[in-house]
Amino acid sequence: MERSALGRGLIRGMSRRLNLKSHHFGLDFPNPIGLAAGMDKKAQCLLGWQEMGFGWMEYGGITAVQQDGNSRPRMFRSRQDKALINRMGFNNPGAENMVRILERRKEKNLWPSVPVGVNIGRSKSANNDDALKDYIFTMRALEPHADIFVINVSSPNTPGLRDLQSGGQIERLLTGVTNWRNEHSMNPILVKIAPDLSDEQIVAIAKVGLETGIDGIVATNTTTSRSNLKGPPKFTEEVGGLSGRPLRDRSTEVIRILYRQLKDNIPIIGVGGIDDGESAWEKLTAGASLLQIYSGLIFEGPGLPGVINRSIVQRMKLEGVTSLNEVIGKDCS
Ligand SMILES: Cc1cc2nc3c(=O)[nH]c(=O)nc-3n(C[C@H](O)[C@H](O)[C@H](O)COP(=O)(O)O)c2cc1C
Repeated sequence: MERSALGRGLIRGMSRRLNLKSHHFGLDFPNPIGLAAGMDKKAQCLLGWQEMGFGWMEYGGITAVQQDGNSRPRMFRSRQDKALINRMGFNNPGAENMVRILERRKEKNLWPSVPVGVNIGRSKSANNDDALKDYIFTMRALEPHADIFVINVSSPNTPGLRDLQSGGQIERLLTGVTNWRNEHSMNPILVKIAPDLSDEQIVAIAKVGLETGIDGIVATNTTTSRSNLKGPPKFTEEVGGLSGRPLRDRSTEVIRILYRQLKDNIPIIGVGGIDDGESAWEKLTAGASLLQIYSGLIFEGPGLPGVINRSIVQRMKLEGVTSLNEVIGKDCS
């Protein structure tokens, strides 16, 4: 449908009627459903995602240094669990090659009109002491080719990366990237966190987020937990990050913990196990202002953004609310 002009017009008309527009960190979002990082690592399909009904998208993760990632196989699926395990390990062309790829796409007019974020990881070859320099290298390179920076400190597949979420380290990193941004860019900065942090660590990151002036928190990345899986050991024993349905409740809980701290001061981006209208609604009412999906798209197919958007509108009508703002954090006490 998205290939034809008529199809594109129908999709556009549909989302206009849905009225799921919102405005966050200086950007207009036609609807809250975003494509999560990792699906379009090299930003090869941005226009296609928009035509599929996504209101925004995040490409990457990109690191300063080109990386091949881990050896294959590195992604596994369990249909029984509606879950994936991946240990991709930031396979990506590196920031400078990525700039060339994106310049070519823009020359061909293959750039969407909705907001585009870039997910930025730390290069495997850099250690955590060099992390700030490494992130800033990629921010500087990709600044002209993204509306949003997402600082990823939560992928389980780069050794030591998640240690950047701890007390002093996250404060130094977020202070560093916001200072750089304040001098060089207008782009909002989001930080993406893991679901495996303790509740106290989540509260601490929310406080650091408020102090350092970041623009949003993405909750959550994949989990290293293997609770509640039905799949065979062949699946459950694979090393890597688990996503999809089994992640859903914990990621919603993380959103709730964050929202209690942040209220409406910093938007939360909810991601983890969204695969229908109900799971999207749960995240919004827990406190997420925007949403992202990855695994749901694998199991439910390309109609999912439209299905979720229509379901949110129906639910809003049922509850008698006219704007998304009235929904956000409604069930978070
Ligand atoms: C194969 C794969 C690759 C991913 N790569 C990245 C990545 O590069 N950076 C990142 O922040 N998250 C990455 N993620 C995590 C997703 O963006 C998302 O946070 C997670 O899958 C939970 O959402 P879901 O349950 O809708 O899949 C990846 C996930 C998968 C399955």
